[in-house]
Amino acid sequence: MSETHPRYLWWNGRQVRWEEATVHVTELGWSTVGAVFEGIRAYWNAETGEAYVFRLREHLERLLRSMRLVRLATTWSIGDLTSAILQLLRDNECREDTYIQPVAYRAAGPKTLSGFSEESGLYIVTRPMPSHLLTGRIVRAKVSSWRRISDEVMPPRVKNISNYRNGQLAAMEAQLDGYDQAILLNQQGKVAEAPGACVMLVRNGKLITPDITQSILESITRDALLRLAREELGLQVEERAVDRTELYVAEEVFLCGTAYEITPVGEIDHYQIGDGQAGPVTRALERLYHDIARGIDPRRPEWRTPVGLAERAAVPGAGS
Ligand SMILES: Cc1ncc(COP(=O)(O)O)c(C=O)c1O
Repeated sequence: MSETHPRYLWWNGRQVRWEEATVHVTELGWSTVGAVFEGIRAYWNAETGEAYVFRLREHLERLLRSMRLVRLATTWSIGDLTSAILQLLRDNECREDTYIQPVAYRAAGPKTLSGFSEESGLYIVTRPMPSHLLTGRIVRAKVSSWRRISDEVMPPRVKNISNYRNGQLAAMEAQLDGYDQAILLNQQGKVAEAPGACVMLVRNGKLITPDITQSILESITRDALLRLAREELGLQVEERAVDRTELYVAEEVFLCGTAYEITPVGEIDHYQIGDGQAGPVTRALERLYHDIARGIDPRRPEWRTPVGLAERAAVPGAGS
């Protein structure tokens, strides 16, 4: 793999070289309004010489749900996309933590607001994304003056690219105001999510998070952590509406998502959370999530899809 970009992309059914995956400049503009995408991670394990895609099936199921919701034809099956992603990771020699982004877009018809055609195109791109799990990263957050989009306006439960303008406005505001991250409330004034991540808090030892009708993405990391908390750590879990001030008085708050993984929040609106460091529940979940995703802990094998890099390395001449 080259330093700046991967060798190949997958585009509409075949692998193409990076340089050849181009479209005309006039495609800029309306073309991404109707697009949906996925963000998936593969974790590298140096011991086994293998990378593992985390919850690949669940991500692809959500991609197809997103496509159906915005009325894009689902030409490719989960099996097709699984094979495409694994082949791409092998051919791009992804021997490091990697982000995998499939993007489905409207392929034909007028590129205007009213243009309507179900025909879809789909590409998949990979890029290095080192994990920050267990690195001690911690963020300061602000409750945004922007509200999260709602189901009756633009459904936040799917990964519609247009949804991300809302989070971008909040993230820009937070950064200009000297914070690392924003937390958005929903239209009812309850905690929704952060741009690119769900929010969890700990109160009296219970893990609490907004339920999936609170204007949040149906997050796969959120689901994984709730299961691990209940089933492996024996914690009590509450999925419910969360007041803004519960964030301020929580013992622990953290963000979670594919890109954010588990990111502790040390301060919100100048209220220190706990002792300002990652708390014990956050740290226990972080360790478990890291070890399971990277294939160090053998539990939840169904969450890890091996890429096949170890097998390929064992075959002389393969991958050259
Ligand atoms: C708005 C938003 N919320 C939450 C998440 C977390 O979702 P997941 O755990 O499926 O990555 C993401 C994506 O990472 C997101 O973009």
